[in-house]
Amino acid sequence: MNYRHVFHAGNFADVFKHAVLSLLLKSLHRKDAPFCYLDTHAGAGRYDLSSDSAQKTGEFNDGIRRLWSADPLPELVDYLAAVRGSNTGDALRYYPGSPAVARYFLRPTDRMVLLERQPEECAQLKTLFAGDRRVTVLAQDGYAGLKALLPPKERRGLVLIDPPFEAEDEYARVVQGLRSAHARWASGIYALWYPLKNRPPVERFHRMLADSGIRKMLLVEFAPYPEDTGFRLNGCGMIVVNPPWQLDETLRSLLPSLLDVLRQHPSGRTGVSWLVPE
Ligand SMILES: C[S@@+](CC[C@H](N)C(=O)[O-])C[C@H]1O[C@@H](n2cnc3c(N)ncnc32)[C@H](O)[C@@H]1O
Repeated sequence: MNYRHVFHAGNFADVFKHAVLSLLLKSLHRKDAPFCYLDTHAGAGRYDLSSDSAQKTGEFNDGIRRLWSADPLPELVDYLAAVRGSNTGDALRYYPGSPAVARYFLRPTDRMVLLERQPEECAQLKTLFAGDRRVTVLAQDGYAGLKALLPPKERRGLVLIDPPFEAEDEYARVVQGLRSAHARWASGIYALWYPLKNRPPVERFHRMLADSGIRKMLLVEFAPYPEDTGFRLNGCGMIVVNPPWQLDETLRSLLPSLLDVLRQHPSGRTGVSWLVPE
């Protein structure tokens, strides 16, 4: 497996994922008590959109580039501030990965733990966060980390599970990872990202989650393309376990406006529903 996120950095899927992530992290500011953010598949942390790799696909042109120059959406002020924080002035050169987005929301007493299996990406993370004592970078398997690192001592926080979905058993591993994490720490917020290509594996994934016994799972989907081929990333989804109060309503109002900016086809769609209610 040789997945490199730089080819996809800042595409519509990243924008959707990091917009939701920003709302989740912002909600943790509602209390003064410190929180912990755990990123099981952290990537490199920041991506140069002028690099050959990013330019080769140009995926960010249909993602963050569009949002960058669109009329601002009030719910995305913090997310866009995090993107601006990775750049200087009005030029969009760098795109922050989930770790850099998360760092924007860390207060002095909060902390984050970043897990990344690829040595090169891990080295980039270490360089990016060198000297920040709130950040721990580990060259460790993300699923093993779910067992070893939870619950965090703060007893409040968020786990992002964002694997590359190159392996056939990735859906099953995500569900298994979530189950064991939730058994250790039932009150944590968990956000799981997944791709929308073929529907059948996604439906099996939803069924496995619904059968897991875990409650309070919000299902959020965002598809700028029609789901008429399995050869393209048509859209993506996130499952949020223990979402903060009113996240469902915020997303129901935000996502159609975000789709207006990122739409690729008239039959693009968004969805927010409870996979399993409270
Ligand atoms: C989709 S990218 C992560 C993107 C990042 N979360 C973001 O939003 O900016 C997936 C990353 O997971 C890493 N990876 C793959 N399998 C892993 C595993 N078992 N444990 C930890 N990292 C893994 C890959 O090297 C890749 O960098």
